[in-house]
Amino acid sequence: MLTSASRIAFRQTSRIMNSSALQHEPKRILVTGGAGFIGSNFLLHMVPKYPGVQFVNLDLLTYAGNLLNLQRLEGSGNYHFVEGDIADGDLVRSLFEEHDFTTVVHFAAESHVDRSISDPLAFVRTNMVGTATLLETARHAWKNSQDVRFHHISTDEVFGSLGSEGVFTEETPYDPKSPYAASKAGSDHLVRAYGHTYGLPYTLSNTSNNYGPFQHPEKLIPLVILRCLKEESIPMYGDGMNVRDWLHVHDHCSALECILKYGRDSQTYLVSAEQESTNLNLVQTLTDLIDDITGRPQGRSRELITFVEDRPGHDFRYAIDAQHLRNELGWKPQYDLPAGLLHTVRWYIEHPEWLEAIADESYQQYFEKQYLSSGP
Ligand code: NAD
Ligand code: TYD
Repeated sequence: MLTSASRIAFRQTSRIMNSSALQHEPKRILVTGGAGFIGSNFLLHMVPKYPGVQFVNLDLLTYAGNLLNLQRLEGSGNYHFVEGDIADGDLVRSLFEEHDFTTVVHFAAESHVDRSISDPLAFVRTNMVGTATLLETARHAWKNSQDVRFHHISTDEVFGSLGSEGVFTEETPYDPKSPYAASKAGSDHLVRAYGHTYGLPYTLSNTSNNYGPFQHPEKLIPLVILRCLKEESIPMYGDGMNVRDWLHVHDHCSALECILKYGRDSQTYLVSAEQESTNLNLVQTLTDLIDDITGRPQGRSRELITFVEDRPGHDFRYAIDAQHLRNELGWKPQYDLPAGLLHTVRWYIEHPEWLEAIADESYQQYFEKQYLSSGP
């Protein structure tokens, strides 16, 4: 399965079969959180492709932000980095005054469920107060502007947990379960409230679990790759039967590009490649791939999988129906899960310097605090 699927190559998003009319033409874009996993992939995709568009990346460089991700953009005349906090109203206002943004693409967030369980207030501050600060600045700055747009990036976790049947659609009621999901739900409500009350032009996307290059190894897929390469135990929460719906980050970026230009005002789009897997299946696929690539005996790395205490309130299953995005905007993903995982494992193996830099002492301390008490 992996061999044939791996032949599916990643094709450029310019080949999207898009028959929709242009709704917004971004000229000067404020990207928040552009040094994180998805934000940096988005900038790497967009900055060279749109040399006539100015990109300003506002990022606080928390533990999750890493300028190494953006090295390829050094010397790009249309890209500019600003270190700072989205909740700092004075800074955000001065950036709007200086750059006269037409567009905000809002990624910045605290993004890890486990961290939200140990430190929920940090999530409320960045995800809700930070988003409100951006919205409030944008509504004043854009009072008399034409063709402006605020795009908010959110998660399918706002819809809560599914049983073994059913899928999320744009009509699914919100039912967030973790502090992370609740803070993202709050930010989504704020965006829609600004659209409804003040007429702020916006689009919103709720996306399934992403994977691919430059993801922090606190998240499942890079965590498994990193620990498997080092032949260290791999923590599997509960019985490993929880299901996630996986989307390659390059496909997410092509979807965002598409929504930004062709998405209709005040619309929400659910983004997913509709590729579900149980955690156990996914991790076994990853460890088998690493055995293949590194020449270890087949099945050896599966022995590293260690069942640990479950995450409190662990959502059982997420699954998205992405028909609205596919049908209305003609977007489609280029990676299925086997091809995407192969691409991802190869990327991490080919970038040991990135993994070394990110998996530093503070990560090790976090990992030990998080898991060693559960005994992996
Ligand atoms: P990430 O944790 O990798 O990156 C977040 C970035 O935001 C980092 O660069 C960090 O430095 C920056 N940041 C944090 N607080 C900030 C603040 N107060 N001011 C300015 N910058 C700040 O996150 P990610 O995985 O790239 O996720 C990006 C967005 O996509 C988030 O809004 C997240 O909720 C959403 N999302 C992520 C996934 C996923 O699977 N990773 C899935 C669906 C939605
Ligand atoms: P994660 O990457 O944290 O994303 P999310 O919680 O936002 O879905 O986790 C993905 C799944 O993997 C989730 O069901 C929890 C599980 N998981 C483990 O089993 N072990 C781990 O070490 C981690 C980080 C996650």
